[in-house]
Amino acid sequence: MNGNTPLSDGIRLTQFAKHGGCAAKIGPDTLSRVLERLPKFSDPSLLVGFETSDDAAVYKVADDIAVIQTLDFFTPVVDDPYTFGQVAAANALSDVYAMGGEPKIALNIVEFPGELDPDILGEILRGGADKVHEAGAVLVGGHSIQDDVPKYGLSVTGFVHPDKIYKNYGCREGDVLILTKQLGSGIVNTAVKAQMASEESAREVIRVMTTLNRKAKETAQKYNVHACTDVTGFGLLGHCSEMASASGAQIRINVGDVAYMHGVKEYAQMGLVPGGAYRNRKHVAPLLDTGNLDVTGEDMGGPDEVWLDLLCDPQTSGGLLLAVPEEEAGNMLEEFARIGMETEVSVVGKVLKSGSGNGRICLRKGK
Ligand code: CO
Ligand code: CO
Repeated sequence: MNGNTPLSDGIRLTQFAKHGGCAAKIGPDTLSRVLERLPKFSDPSLLVGFETSDDAAVYKVADDIAVIQTLDFFTPVVDDPYTFGQVAAANALSDVYAMGGEPKIALNIVEFPGELDPDILGEILRGGADKVHEAGAVLVGGHSIQDDVPKYGLSVTGFVHPDKIYKNYGCREGDVLILTKQLGSGIVNTAVKAQMASEESAREVIRVMTTLNRKAKETAQKYNVHACTDVTGFGLLGHCSEMASASGAQIRINVGDVAYMHGVKEYAQMGLVPGGAYRNRKHVAPLLDTGNLDVTGEDMGGPDEVWLDLLCDPQTSGGLLLAVPEEEAGNMLEEFARIGMETEVSVVGKVLKSGSGNGRICLRKGK
């Protein structure tokens, strides 16, 4: 099933939504302006709050246990209801993995049009429940309301040892940046919606979006990880910029080394780029240094605009971005290769400097 199957009565789930998946996120600029208005909460047990734009909140309940709390939901990103449920759940569970934790309890969040066949909703929820089960967590209830645009997601509670929390800051000079899924879901989904994607791309994007970040996190946990986040709506550069700013780090991204989905450059060249990519580009622009990057050359396969589109493409249920000390990165990569990941793991760059100044991202061609 490629996720693009029309429903029995000819309805396509994605036709309900202007933006699907994490591309429907409110932009980072708007979001930070809104969050500024909220009062600061402080509690000695609150280990991670919303101030650092991390993936989830973490609250210590005992010396050896902290609770991770997160929630994520969005509009349909694929037409097949069961697949949509799987993608939304994998995406919501990912924020617990991105904090280094194990998801334990999940609640459904549902908005669904009253006039649509309830069996469609049943399939969405079944897809989500199957992912919760695969994650080793339990689904215990939820909340549903009627709305014109279907939306689905989860609120997830997880657990982590307070000393083993992955934060989105703390990367250090010399760290290697490893991304555990190939990039391109926003662009490929746009191509699928325009009915211009190849079968191969359509299959790949669904495999990537439905894959849990569980294996990535469980493997990473055997090594020293200085910082971690999952790459979702703000794109690789958006999430890198959060990591760079929060760590006072200068990060180098080797654009040619990043693993991309099949066909994604061609689709971007055809202009099949979600609006969120431009919003993300605008957001990261002040931090960006393209230096002597000659991205117009033949060997790069396209103009620099296309590379920026790919790097800023909003990802739905993207991979973990891990900052790992250089001396451990080789072994981690070897283990990823040995256990056989469903997705492509790539080294996307490294941390040049850390601990002082504003975040900076340098885009370079190769090593
Ligand atoms: Co996240
Ligand atoms: Co999230």
